[in-house]
Amino acid sequence: MSKGLFITFEGGEGCGKSTQVKRLKAELESRGIEVLLTREPGGTILSEEIRRLIKDQEEDAPCDRAELLLFLAARAQLVRNVIRPALAAGKYVISDRFSDSTIAYQGYGRGLSLDFISAANDFACEDLKPDITFLLDVDPEVARARMRSRESATHTAADRIEKAGEEFHARLREGFRALAAADRERIVTIDANGSPDEVWNLISNILRKVIR
Ligand SMILES: Nc1ncnc2c1ncn2[C@@H]1O[C@H](COP(=O)(O)OP(=O)(O)OP(=O)(O)O)[C@@H](O)[C@H]1O
Ligand SMILES: [Mg+2]
Repeated sequence: MSKGLFITFEGGEGCGKSTQVKRLKAELESRGIEVLLTREPGGTILSEEIRRLIKDQEEDAPCDRAELLLFLAARAQLVRNVIRPALAAGKYVISDRFSDSTIAYQGYGRGLSLDFISAANDFACEDLKPDITFLLDVDPEVARARMRSRESATHTAADRIEKAGEEFHARLREGFRALAAADRERIVTIDANGSPDEVWNLISNILRKVIR
């Protein structure tokens, strides 16, 4: 039985997940709650290696099925070695992306079987589900503008998945929305078009009802 709380953030590229995750971590810690922050794919030595293969292997880029299996391998390692032990120790775990992203990206985006992904997700996670998921929903133009400003601010180029076309990103958004519609208990959709402060206010209002 886990004693902690498992919170995930989901949404397309540039919707502001990492920005809000940092604020949430700071807010929880200011209340004396022990927080473990992790990101997907990544969060363990093996999983960070897999992240590099997924994102930056251009010469022999993973085919769709290989990409799916790599994400799942990274997740299995993260859940078993990091997330479960932290929850068992009573920590709050915040993950910047989790299983819903696999359904949105590899299912809706790449067109792989949703049933297979769902079952494989459960296998990889040993049936662990987030207690609450914040889905940050933004208009595609807003997300694109944020990505561009980040690329110029940090002097980094878009990775292989970020560079996928507009249609792909539209399918992602549809996927995330379908997931949210199917599980309103767990997934809270946040209008993330506003300023970082506005988005944070929406999140912290929900949080108040969730935190014990
Ligand atoms: N509410 C906001 N309004 C304006 N700019 C924002 C907002 N939230 C984040 N940004 C900026 O937009 C860019 C993308 O934000 P962030 O990195 O948090 O998104 P992300 O969802 O984590 O993206 P990715 O999926 O690529 O990891 C950053 O440069 C960030 O500073
Ligand atoms: Mg991010």
